[in-house]
Parts: sequence; C-alpha cells; structure tokens
Amino acid sequence: MNAVEIEEAVSELAAAPFDADEFPFAFLTAFGNKETTIRKLRSGASNKSDLGGVLQTNNIHIAVCSPGEVTKTLTALKASPATSRAKAKFALATDGETFEAEDLASGETVACAYADFPDHFGFFLPLAGITTVKQIRESSFDIRATGRLNRLYVELLKDNPDWGTAERRPDMNHFMARLIFCFFAEDTDIFNGSRLFTATIEQMSARDSANTHEVIGELFRAMNTKIADRGSAALPRWADVFPYVNGGLFSGSPDVPRFSRIAKSYLLHIGNLDWTKINPDIFGSMIQAVADDDERGALGMHYTSVPNILKVLNPLFLDDLRAQLDEARDNSRSLLNLRKRMAKIRVFDPACGSGNFLVIAYKAMREIEAEINKRRGEADRRTEIPLTNFRGIELRDFPAEVARLALIIAEFQCDVLYRGQKEALAEFLPLDAMNWITCGNALRLDWLSVCPPTGTGVKFQADDLFHTPLDQAQIDFENEGGETYICGNPPYKGSQSQDDAQKADLELVFRRTNVNWKGTDYVGGWFKKASDYCGIEKASFAFVSTNSICQGKAVSNLWPNMLGRQLEIQFAYTSFRWANLANYNAGVTVVVVGVGPRNGAKKHLFVTTKHGLEAREVPTINAYLVSGPELYVNPRSENLSGLNPMVFGNMPIDGGGLSFTTDEIDATGLSTELRERFIRRIYGGAEFVRGQSRYCLWIEDDDIDEVAQVPGIKDRLEKVEKFRRSSARPATLELAQAPHRFGWVAQAGSEVVTLLPRILSERREYITVGHEPAGTLTTDQAYALFDAPLWNMALIASRIHLVWITTVCGKLKTDLRYSNTLGWNTFPVPTLTEKNKADLTRCAEDILLARGAHFPATVAELYDPEAMPDELRAAHDRNDETLERIYIGRRFRNDTERLEKLFDLYTKMTTLKKASA
Ligand SMILES: C[S@@+](CC[C@H](N)C(=O)[O-])C[C@H]1O[C@@H](n2cnc3c(N)ncnc32)[C@H](O)[C@@H]1O
Repeated sequence: MNAVEIEEAVSELAAAPFDADEFPFAFLTAFGNKETTIRKLRSGASNKSDLGGVLQTNNIHIAVCSPGEVTKTLTALKASPATSRAKAKFALATDGETFEAEDLASGETVACAYADFPDHFGFFLPLAGITTVKQIRESSFDIRATGRLNRLYVELLKDNPDWGTAERRPDMNHFMARLIFCFFAEDTDIFNGSRLFTATIEQMSARDSANTHEVIGELFRAMNTKIADRGSAALPRWADVFPYVNGGLFSGSPDVPRFSRIAKSYLLHIGNLDWTKINPDIFGSMIQAVADDDERGALGMHYTSVPNILKVLNPLFLDDLRAQLDEARDNSRSLLNLRKRMAKIRVFDPACGSGNFLVIAYKAMREIEAEINKRRGEADRRTEIPLTNFRGIELRDFPAEVARLALIIAEFQCDVLYRGQKEALAEFLPLDAMNWITCGNALRLDWLSVCPPTGTGVKFQADDLFHTPLDQAQIDFENEGGETYICGNPPYKGSQSQDDAQKADLELVFRRTNVNWKGTDYVGGWFKKASDYCGIEKASFAFVSTNSICQGKAVSNLWPNMLGRQLEIQFAYTSFRWANLANYNAGVTVVVVGVGPRNGAKKHLFVTTKHGLEAREVPTINAYLVSGPELYVNPRSENLSGLNPMVFGNMPIDGGGLSFTTDEIDATGLSTELRERFIRRIYGGAEFVRGQSRYCLWIEDDDIDEVAQVPGIKDRLEKVEKFRRSSARPATLELAQAPHRFGWVAQAGSEVVTLLPRILSERREYITVGHEPAGTLTTDQAYALFDAPLWNMALIASRIHLVWITTVCGKLKTDLRYSNTLGWNTFPVPTLTEKNKADLTRCAEDILLARGAHFPATVAELYDPEAMPDELRAAHDRNDETLERIYIGRRFRNDTERLEKLFDLYTKMTTLKKASA
C-alpha cells in the first residue's frame, strides 16, 4: 500500500463505529497487513501480547481499554516485558474516545481524540515499511487531498462516462484544476468569506444533487465575468458574491460534469479539508496522477522528491545567489544588485510535469528576495520576481494545468508569508493570463520560442495552456541581460522501450549530428536540446537523469557533440538510488549533471558513499562523472595492458542441431565411447551462472568421415545442414557444407577456459567469472580467455574491474553489458611483476576453493548479495586488497577513488601508446 491508500484506509476506520474487539486488527489491516498475517494474529499463533491486546513482533503492541484508562494502559504496554521481547516499535492504547501512542525508539507521542487519529497516520508509516516518513508527514495534507480528489475523479467518470473519452478528458482535467483553485481560494480569503465555495454548493444543491453541476456552473460563470459586466450577466445573487478570477482558468467550456449524491458528498468532504496547508510543489506532483489511468494506482508517488530537486537547483544557481546574499551582508547597493539580478533570472523546465522544480525555485528565490528586502528595510516591498520568468514545457495537459496553478498558489503563499495576507489578497485577483507553461512535446518545440533570448518576443504556441491570445512580446523585456537556468527531470527511456514517435523525436533532435541516436536514451534528447540552447543563450542546465547517460557507449557517442568547445560539466552527483515517497523504490539509479559555459572555475562533485554525501571541489569533471581530464574511452582491438585476449565463444548457427540437454543425449542412443569422444559440455553465460547442463556435438574435421553416418549423429548433422541451407545469407549457406562444425569456431577445444557472461546482473557485487578445465567449450553468449594464466581471473573478479566495466560499458536495461573491446581491452592495469601475478593467482585459487566448498551451489546462488557465503566474500576481499595494493599501495576508499585512478592510468597509458606508435 502507498501512503495515499493508507491514509484513506485509516480515515475510513476512524469514521466507522468503534468496535473494541476488531480495532487492533482493523488498524493493522489499514497499514497494509495481509489477510494471512491478521488471521495468525487473531488465532493467537503470532500474537505475543501479555496484556490481552495484540502484539505484532517487530511492529506494534495495541490494547483497547475501558473508558478513561488510556494513559494507564499505554504505560502498561510500554512497561510490558513482551513489548521489548518482541522488539515492538510502537505502543498504542485507545478506549474509542481517546487515542494515545508512542514511538518506542524516539519517545515521540501522539495523544488525540479517537476520531482525529487519522491526522497522525504519518506517525505510524514505519508499520507499512515506508521509510520516507519525515517527507510524508510534512506532506500529509497533500496525501489526504490527493486521495479524496482521486475518489471524486473516479466517481465523476463513473457518472459521466463521456468525460473519460480522449476528447473530453481535457475538459475533465480543466474542471479539476478549477475545483482545486476554488478549494484553495475559499480557505485563504481569496473568496469573500471562508468556505464560501463549498458552503454555496452545499446550500444550493438539491438533496438528490440533480442540479449540483448547474450550481457549480453558475459559480464558474461568475468567476469568468468581470465586475463591470456583472449587470448584464444575470448571475444569481449567491453567485454574484464571487470575485472575477479568470486568468484563463474559468474561460473556455462552461460545462460541469453531473454529480451523483456520492460525488457531491466527496466534493463537500474535500472542501472541508484545510487547503491553506497545501504544498504546491508536492501536491501538484501527486494530483497529476489522478488524471492518468496508468499512474492512478501509484498516485503520484513517482515524482522527483524535494531533496533530489534541490540537488539540481542548489548547485545550478541557488547556492550562488545565497553566497552573493552572504557577501552583501547589509550593504544596500550589493543587496540591490542581487535583487536586480534575481528579477532577470529565468528558470525553464522543459519536462516540467506539475511544475515542482519551478515552484521550488520560485519559493527559494522569494526567500532570498525577502531577506534582501528585510536587510534594506523594505520588508513590505512588492516582489520583483515575475512568475512569468518560470517557464515550462509539459506533454500532458493536466500536469501542465496543475503546474500553472501550483505557481499561482506558490506566489500567493509567498506574498502572504513575506508581505502579509492583506497585501497578498490586494494583488492576487484577477489572475493574469500570461503564458508560462506550454503544453507540447519538448523535443519538437523550439525552446528559444518558449524561453526566448532576452529582449525578444515569444512565438505563440498553438497548444498553449489556457489558449491565451496574448501579446507575448511584453513578457520578456524585463530580462535584458538576464541569466537562464534550464532544469528538470526529463523522462528516461532506453532505446528498447521507446515507441516510434519517441524514436522520431530523437531522430529530429540529432538529425544534423554524428550522434548514433538509435542507441540513445530518450533523456538524451533533452541534454542535446539544452546544450544547443546554451550554445546560443547565456544559460546553464542541470537535469536529474538515468545514470546510463554517463556510462558506456553513450558517453563517447553523445558528450563530445554536446559539450563542444563552449560547454563543460560544472557539477555532478554521481550515481545514487532514486528515492521518493513510494514505499517501494523502483530500481532506478540516477545522476545529476550540471552543464554550463567553460569558465576555469572549480567544479563540484558530489558522491554518495555509505558514510553519507561527500562534496569535493575538483578542477574538471569528465562525462563519466569522474574528476579528471575530459576523455572518452573507445573500443580497442588490442589490449591496452597487454592482458590475454578475450573473445566471444563459439557461435553454433545450427538451428539447435548441435546442442543437447542431458535427456537428449540419452535419446541419441550413442555408445558410451562415442559420447565421450564427441559430446562435450558447453557453457553460455547463463548456463555457467545457473549451473545448467548443456552439451554439444564437437567433431574434428579429421573424425567426421568416421561418424557422419552414425545414427544419432547423422540426423543431427542433417538438421544443421537444413537450417543453414534455409538462410538467405551467403556466409551461412556456405557453412551448410560442414554441418559438424560450429558456425564460428573460437577455440581448438583443448583449452583451459576462463569465461564470463556477456550480460551481468547489476545486483551482484562481483563479475561472475569462471575457470573451467581443459576441453570446456563456450558459446558466444559468454566471453572467454583460452589458456590464460589464472591471475586474469583475479583481475576480472575484482571490484575495480566491475567499477570500470559499469562505467565504460554501461547497461542493457538494468543489467551490465560486458564488452571485450570496450571494457577488457581498455582496462588499465599497472605492469604486473611475477610476484604480483603469483599473489593474484593465489587469490583466484582461493575464490575457486571458496566456491567449491559450497558444491553444488550454483554461481548465481553463491553470488546472491543477500546470501553470499562469508568465506567467498573474504576471498574476494583478499583479492581486492591484493590488487588495489598493486595500484596504489593500499585499499581504495571508495569507487570514486578507484575510477579516478583508473582514468588517470588510462590517460597515461594511452598517451604513451600514442607516443610510441
Ligand atoms: C520524470 S517526469 C518529471 C516531472 C516532474 N518534474 C516531476 O517530478 O514529477 C517527466 C515529465 O516529462 C513529461 N514528458 C514526457 N515526454 C515529454 C515530451 N516529449 N515533452 C514534454 N514533456 C514530456 C512527462 O509527462 C512527465 O511529466
């Protein structure tokens, strides 16, 4: 269950009549416990309570008590030996009137009327395995409002199925945006009198709600009618008291969907929430999911979290503004200069969703401005930061609407906060109608027309939000000489997940470049357009992105083109796990990359380590997000470090004719002698890792005449021949003449084989490399070294090699894609002495011995990060220690240090190679 679902379940429980026996189970169910867990607790099997309550191990001890006994019961729960034995995190006591609970680790308590305990649902979220509790507790209003609006949305679609069609969806979304505005306005005195909107609907609607849509329609009509025109508008008296709002929000279709009784009661319920508590950044992101059939289940839990947004905005420009504020101290002129600078800053998010980056940037800038005004003794001063300087592009219409609404709300809240309610109200209505958020495809739109070079006009976009026919040219004059910061979290989609339209978008973006856009993640389109923009405008950009943009072939393919001579990476957060309000965090690893004009200043590199965030100033950051010179690792045919050659294994091209499972070998009827001579074990990567048995026919040319007609072999060779003859490729047709041979033969067949899969699971901590006895065969689904000394295996099995491979080879979806030419042949290894080789050989032997001790466990089982045997881990650790001492005389502190050393060595070795060529 996600937080929205939990909040709903908890609210339902509190609203239902109190049932003392049922309460503990209902409470645990509301926090996502499964039916079977509850059954076990009910039967007593897993209930450890010593006080007649319900005690769930590692979670909570609950007791329902007689009236007035709540505090005493809570004390007893806390003191109970069973509570500590079961390591309960919470104690909870209630009599159905009063509710008390304590977080036993922090000592934090909740004490409230029973009916109000849903207000504290965030307190108990650890019960549901949700760890981002702090953020959720800060957003509990937004979660609650989203849940309610979601119900209303679904109910309205049920009553008005035509509003769910593609043509009417925008009307539905627009209607929801109007509602949200009205709820906010009635709680913040923007409307005359509090709860005016909800109360009017409640009073004027018929009991069966048959006219609710007409009542709301009249209110909307009032908000779209200027005061001067009210006389001729014939508005009912109860609607006439509403102010003129518009700004595009109430223009357009006046239609309102019909309301059932249930829908009306949902609406009233939503109106009764306290909308002053809305966080426009968070709420916007959450509410956008309501209108998205695919996202509704997750209810906006996938949006970028505020800490991640700040990883973009702070180093991009906010830190600099704050530094300038600090430097200015109380110097009036310096403060004024900063205020003037800020008034000309434009923030542009070309995949803005509901505008969370823009809202947070706006709020942060208003905070700085307020401090300037305070220091200058002008605390009441009107803001000089125009909302029009916060621009966005968003593909979907509802988030685009919400983005604009969120900015309007943010502006109002900042005015209230810094200038007072009266001033905020005086200037709020009517909303202005300028075009800030463009609804459209960012990879098709001209960014210079949405956020034009300073001093020029904006081209009108046909699909503008609120269809505003404006004189856009006026908007931009203020920004002469200003700065532009592009930011956001554009969508990620690997080349295999892109649809045709998205591929066409990328083709368009990269059409005049040598970039191989076909292998590029969709997010690459935003990087390219942002860097093009920065080539024309005085601008910098920073995005949260999938880390694949800074790994593997994408790097040498994309980045030289993007950076060119003018731009450089100014700051970066190296890979970190995505975290947001979801109770599950999708397996996404992201980076933040900030790019701007070359300036010779220090760069900022932020590395997430197990000890926390490490921030460093470095001279340069390359496109692999490593401190070091700008370089690109390209595939090599020769090994840079003089290591043994690594190749693909044998490629059968046999239509299955040459390979056998164990059962199929029996079915051939071949004698034991023939089996021993001609059937061999063969490994692809998967077979090796999963310990699966696969065999093949391996017949030398000299032997074929002897066995070609043997039943069990003959039919297999015919199958291969037939398969190859059916091919359109001349090379395959030719292979049909020797069906006993693999299509491509990589080995003689007598070698000791060091092998590893081509695709490696990202979860494992080491590359699963094997060392198999002479005579082992490999397929082309594995890479192999033949008769290579064992210390090669030690290199491949090391942490430092894995780090290199992850960085320079990149991924296929979430798995690592090993490459011999790009990863092995480029791997920089210091010159190894005989002693080094002997030490590494011993390390590899130890790894093999540690694996052998767990026979018949498969490699996959042995390298399961959750269940890796201690001695195997220790053997790898010794291997890492030995190898890392060869590199730097000690262990590396972290992967960043490993990479920096590798890139340094790579640069030296390639320069030396070039010099000696
Ligand atoms: C990862 S979300 C980030 C949005 C927002 N900052 C957030 O955190 O929720 C990416 C956004 O890009 C939008 N998007 C996807 N393709 C787009 C396109 N071609 N042009 C403009 N926006 C697009 C999506 O609708 C989505 O709102």
